[in-house]
Amino acid sequence: MLVAPSVLSADFGNLERDVRAICDAGCDLVHVDVMDGHFVPNLTIGPVVVSAIAKASTKPLDIHLMVQNNTFFVDLFAPLKPEYITFHIEEEKHPHRLVHYIRSLGIKPGIVLNPHTPAEAVEYLLGDIDMVLVMSVNPGFGGQKFIPSAVEKIRRLKTLRDRINPSCLIEIDGGVGNKNIAELKEAGVDVCVAGSYVFGQSDYKAAIESLKI
Ligand code: DX5
Ligand code: ZN
Repeated sequence: MLVAPSVLSADFGNLERDVRAICDAGCDLVHVDVMDGHFVPNLTIGPVVVSAIAKASTKPLDIHLMVQNNTFFVDLFAPLKPEYITFHIEEEKHPHRLVHYIRSLGIKPGIVLNPHTPAEAVEYLLGDIDMVLVMSVNPGFGGQKFIPSAVEKIRRLKTLRDRINPSCLIEIDGGVGNKNIAELKEAGVDVCVAGSYVFGQSDYKAAIESLKI
């Protein structure tokens, strides 16, 4: 299991310290939640702050866009050279085009599914992407309760993924912690995002290790 702590739950007054701390504690990716106040009812960070995160990080960035006008945001963040940019399929008329645009910038593209969006929505894109992110909460806020139907979705997605593109990673985001990680692993999750769980503990290393099963 790869672990991607969500910086949304970091102390923004000590962002550099917290980003360094999760990297030193052995995380695999640094998950960055970009919200625009339109696609989701919350507003987070833009390229100035994400650039500070990129500078502090010794691990690759995993940028999760929760925005309208995806292409505009892809262009804003591409110069920071993230490993992944994922965007919501619900908010994109031409996801296939955008996936290939992201790849043309040298970034791995991924698609995000909201809780109501079926696994099958990504079937004809699976061959073109490096990651599918399954939301197990409604996007917008950290610290929400895990939505159990995500487990069944992961199972269906894994069947599709294994058939179409075994190298595409399945990531889960929202309400993840040591209580549900074993079930998620068994269902087929490769990468877990964890915000409040990791940053809510004083020992980040122990928190991250408890997810690496
Ligand atoms: C929610 C974000 C998540 C969030 C996860 O919209 O996409 O990445 O920070 O937070 P936890 O792990 O606290 O549910
Ligand atoms: Zn996220």
